[in-house]
Amino acid sequence: MTGVFITLEGVEGVGKSTNLTYIQSKLNASGHPVVVTREPGGTEMAEEIRHLLLQPRSEPVSEMAELLLMFAARAQHLHALIKPSLNAGQWVLCDRFTDATFAYQGGGRGLPLHWISNLETMVQQTIKPDLTFLLDLPVEIGLERAAKRSELDRFEVEKKTFFEQVRNAYLMRAEQEPDRFAIIDASVSLSEVHAQIDKVLAEKLGVKAE
Ligand code: TMP
Repeated sequence: MTGVFITLEGVEGVGKSTNLTYIQSKLNASGHPVVVTREPGGTEMAEEIRHLLLQPRSEPVSEMAELLLMFAARAQHLHALIKPSLNAGQWVLCDRFTDATFAYQGGGRGLPLHWISNLETMVQQTIKPDLTFLLDLPVEIGLERAAKRSELDRFEVEKKTFFEQVRNAYLMRAEQEPDRFAIIDASVSLSEVHAQIDKVLAEKLGVKAE
């Protein structure tokens, strides 16, 4: 038995948390309980790596160390949670996955994309999301929303140009894999965002809107 692997992506402030909860409730209501998880993180060890990655620090952080830690966390997450869940036929809903590495470490930090592809193959082998929601919004609106949060992490303190590069890299990935990606316009009202999500869930997974 193989479950369905769904991921949710987007730049800071696009409304990922709210919409993750919405997708989860839609799937539950349609008889598909989901394992909800996140990256970096999702298991005890991977959450420790998340802390290492997100904590602001005075020491300059190597982009290579950042990239490898993202994949170290992912390897553990796949091993201890994602693969066993999918193999048991469960559906998995993950807040960010490897598209975030292409967007942040590739687009934002400027690391060569083929390094990321090579690590993707090493760490994931054939595992890829079946469906990826990309919540998209002009960067300045997202950053305004994100700035209202109490404490900024090591990524949230980056400049607007960094997030423009992240957004562009996400959109490029979506263009390359149009069947897997569903781009959601997150600049409209929440009910309109939900309507877009409902349509994708119905079309791609046969999940009926109530
Ligand atoms: P979150 O705030 O959405 O939980 O994500 C944590 C941060 O980690 C976010 O700024 C994006 C970043 N990130 C990467 O840079 N690369 C990755 O591969 C992942 C999964 C997250």
